[in-house]
Amino acid sequence: MARILVVGIATLDIINTVDAYPAEDSEVRARARCLRRGGNAANTAVVLAQLGHQCQWAGTLAEDASGAQIREDLLASGVNLDAAQTVAGGGTPTSYVTLSAANGSRSIVHFRQLPEYSFPAFSRIELDGLDWIHFEGRNITETRAMLDHVHAVRPALPCSVEIEKPRPGIEALCTGPALLLYSRDYVRALAGGEDSVDDPVDFLQTRHRQLPRAEHVCAWAEGGAWGVDPQGQLVHAPAWDISPVVDTLGAGDTFNAGLIDASLAGLPLATGLHKACSLAGRKCAQQGFQGLCATQ
Ligand code: ADP
Ligand code: FRU
Repeated sequence: MARILVVGIATLDIINTVDAYPAEDSEVRARARCLRRGGNAANTAVVLAQLGHQCQWAGTLAEDASGAQIREDLLASGVNLDAAQTVAGGGTPTSYVTLSAANGSRSIVHFRQLPEYSFPAFSRIELDGLDWIHFEGRNITETRAMLDHVHAVRPALPCSVEIEKPRPGIEALCTGPALLLYSRDYVRALAGGEDSVDDPVDFLQTRHRQLPRAEHVCAWAEGGAWGVDPQGQLVHAPAWDISPVVDTLGAGDTFNAGLIDASLAGLPLATGLHKACSLAGRKCAQQGFQGLCATQ
């Protein structure tokens, strides 16, 4: 069991399951609707708690009913909220998700009007005793200040950063962390937004040359995941062969939790990728995150 701090967002996810993804300007009926707590960091924290870790989430919550529900859900999932901030103004960040029953794909429209977690709040967290910090790559200036603070106070404490969206200046978060987790969308956006990039091998090799001390990893949906370790060894793990794919919402967040868990256990990157793909595959085969690690 490790003590892990996860920094990032929590959301309300309103998930409409449809038979197949609708055409633009059409009207379809949802076969199911459910409301769930979501958010990359919150999802990752919940899975890490299921994996047996003592997990703390740092992020902002709104002062509304959905904020209270998210708080309850995280506490019920065993995630410590001492570092969470309830902020006035705005409302709970909400994702409107269309989940296709045909292939488990999720399309997200996200609405956000809530201040982000701030450096002053982060600087009050007691870092002694932590074994790992995972950051969502957002809120760039504040997150960079958080990484610098960790480096000053606990230089040996391993950090990971998820680089999911091609946000302006996000590269500033890549210097220092032991583990960088890139999304397929990010890699493709860097390559000019082309879907024609079939794998992240060139990207990862370049990243290794630029930042050789870090592990660089890229999850690639049904293509599994690739990574390069500090020795420059490139590894790949295939995705799980799942039929049917039920719900891919949060697959990447689950993958990140699996990989952090494997890194904390000191496993080689190749083994970590296999374990993370297996956990993420399990998630894709079911709705939501409950009981993911029950038979692991
Ligand atoms: P995100 O949720 O951030 O878009 P990905 O789609 O890259 O993340 O998925 C993360 C991991 O989840 C992949 O590396 C893979 O192991 C697993 N996964 C995602 N989609 C599928 C799928 N259709 N079939 C099997 N595994 C999948
Ligand atoms: C899934 C997710 C959802 C959330 C959205 C935020 O990865 O965290 O739970 O609504 O992404 O971008």
